[in-house]
Amino acid sequence: MSEIAIETKSLCKRYRSHLGMGLPPTLDGLSLRVHEHEVFGFLGKNGAGKTTTIKILCGLVWQNQGEASIFGYSNRDKRARSLVGYLPENPYFYEYLTPRETLDFYGKLNGDTVAARNKRWDYLSELLDLSDIANQRVRGFSKGMRQRLGFAVAMAGDPRLLILDEPMSGLDPMGRHMVRDLMLRLREEKKTVFFSSHILGDVEQVCDRVGMLVNGKLHREGALQDLLTRETLRVDVVTRDVPEDTIAELSTSAQRVYDADEGVCLSFSSHDDADAAARKIYAGSGRVVSLTPIAETLEDYFVRQQEDGEGAS
Ligand SMILES: Nc1ncnc2c1ncn2[C@@H]1O[C@H](COP(=O)(O)OP(=O)(O)OP(=O)(O)O)[C@@H](O)[C@H]1O
Ligand SMILES: [Mg+2]
Repeated sequence: MSEIAIETKSLCKRYRSHLGMGLPPTLDGLSLRVHEHEVFGFLGKNGAGKTTTIKILCGLVWQNQGEASIFGYSNRDKRARSLVGYLPENPYFYEYLTPRETLDFYGKLNGDTVAARNKRWDYLSELLDLSDIANQRVRGFSKGMRQRLGFAVAMAGDPRLLILDEPMSGLDPMGRHMVRDLMLRLREEKKTVFFSSHILGDVEQVCDRVGMLVNGKLHREGALQDLLTRETLRVDVVTRDVPEDTIAELSTSAQRVYDADEGVCLSFSSHDDADAAARKIYAGSGRVVSLTPIAETLEDYFVRQQEDGEGAS
């Protein structure tokens, strides 16, 4: 059995306004479990509390109630932090240092020897393509360069668990591709990765499991393929050479009939209706050019889940 890398039990967080007034809870009983070697995508809309959860796990913000632990150590225990590499939403660097010096600085904080620091640099600069910018000051770096350096800092101590807050946000397609490849590599290396994201397509490609935060609780959680038994919204049947009266007859059970490039398209709400229509067309003189089930997109699925979650509370 794999170990539990992250566990939260009934986590609650209520911030105070600058006047000291209680605000509505950001986290309201969040219970979640991430197993070792998993890549877990933590989803939720803006302001859902993803960064708050991540900061609690990293010991940067304290919960008001509930528990959070990393490999069995409480988030209040220093040993928990030594196992985590953290990439913040907006990584902060010493602007006058170069990537090489930055990594050296963090290596020294970890108590690494010169030889160990050089070896780690060789590995990370190759992995994150930092060699060309190794000796340039961070000041003036683009978002993509900063993100690569942020990853290197998070991975400096070769942590068992990486916690990444929106690792793909603000990156161009090349940058996102780089992050995706990196996550896949980390998965191959049996690291545990917990990351928040809005970019659902990227989540779909790299995650073993996902969880969705709605109203401070985990609304949905599970393996992607189990969660995403997305419904077929409709079945489109494109036809040719079908007599007008047959089209008129089929229109009564179709949701929509329209002229498509390849012929007349009839949209049905079920596979059964589409199959029945195809049989009728074949029985006459018409042709079926295509029969295509149209599934809900991942984006639509999560929006619907979000709406269902909000409606339920
Ligand atoms: N220090 C703070 N003081 C008061 N309220 C805060 C503080 N930090 C966060 N909040 C509030 O808590 C809620 C959750 O914020 P959080 O940053 O955790 O959300 P998020 O899911 O990371 O959002 P995003 O997708 O925009 O990054 C928001 O309503 C935010 O305004
Ligand atoms: Mg955030």
